[in-house]
Amino acid sequence: MSVTILGIESSCDDTSAAVLTDGLLRSNVISSQSVHESYGGVVPELASRAHQQNILPTVSEALRQAGVQASDLNAIAFTRGPGLLGSLLVGTSFAKGLAIAEGIPTVDVNHLHAHILSHFIRTEEGQEVPEFPFMCLLISGGNSQIVYVKSPSEMEIVGRTIDDAAGEAFDKCAKVMGLPYPGGPHIDRLAAEGDPKAFRFSRPHIPGLDYSFSGLKTSFLYTLRDNLKADPGFIEKHKADLAASLQATIIRILLDKLALAVERYRPDSVAIGGGVSANSGVRRAIADFCRERGIRAWIPPRSFTTDNAAMVAMAGYFKYMKGEYCDLSLPPFARVEI
Ligand code: KG4
Repeated sequence: MSVTILGIESSCDDTSAAVLTDGLLRSNVISSQSVHESYGGVVPELASRAHQQNILPTVSEALRQAGVQASDLNAIAFTRGPGLLGSLLVGTSFAKGLAIAEGIPTVDVNHLHAHILSHFIRTEEGQEVPEFPFMCLLISGGNSQIVYVKSPSEMEIVGRTIDDAAGEAFDKCAKVMGLPYPGGPHIDRLAAEGDPKAFRFSRPHIPGLDYSFSGLKTSFLYTLRDNLKADPGFIEKHKADLAASLQATIIRILLDKLALAVERYRPDSVAIGGGVSANSGVRRAIADFCRERGIRAWIPPRSFTTDNAAMVAMAGYFKYMKGEYCDLSLPPFARVEI
């Protein structure tokens, strides 16, 4: 018997709903919230209200596009955390309410697991998916982790950031350059026209597999400050080179530790996930990194890199198949380790 899961994602500023049947994607609808643009970051209270407005039309549209009725669903998977608590409450409550109405179970999903398991979503029959174990570089606005993925439920974080995440390094540096929020995609676009060797920014020297991005941020700020004194038009004149050099440094930091992790764990394949895995430079660098080592690279379609409910439905499917349903009294959580 086939299993159809509705996924609901509301952890940050995207309301998303998706329908998946046996791992095959049938719809993935995302309503992004433009309300935050003028604030230079996500405003939690506004995010919760926008989720409340968007959730019903988003879920209805996902069901319509998939050609299913709520009564055809076997379960509802929802992001339980980590994320903004008020935002998570909207998706969690909606999922529970609909599940009670339909008399079906809910499955709670860890948002970080979902990013990693997005590689198992098939958009067409017969599509290949990774084999366990594999190494995953999980890079988003809130996390930078190297995760050894042994199974859909056994994930070992072997390296993590001790301060900022890679996405924060992109966004914070972009902000001081006067670029809109989130800055990552703008840096990506500008970097394509710049010289990655034009500026040198500091790289961390911390032992082991952990990351640090706060030193890079400081070094980027100092470069701007020193040069702006002499030339107030410095940023405008050098924005492409600044973006290219920043992006190259972030990639170098990411890959140096990934190389250590791969030496230590010897995986057959490496996957990337999270918002920063949409970055063109990161995608190219990971493909080269894996080619040089004779291992397989799993690079997700861009639509699965940012927050989406397809990955939540996928992670939910794995748990549903093991009978791991969620107690309806479970609250969402703002922070969590994998
Ligand atoms: O996973 P995600 O959607 O959610 C959070 O963790 O919040 O990641 C968002 C992050 C932001 O920092 C954004 O700037 C970054 O992903 N991002 C990018 C690109 N697209 C999104 N960073 C660099 N290049 C991109 N093309």
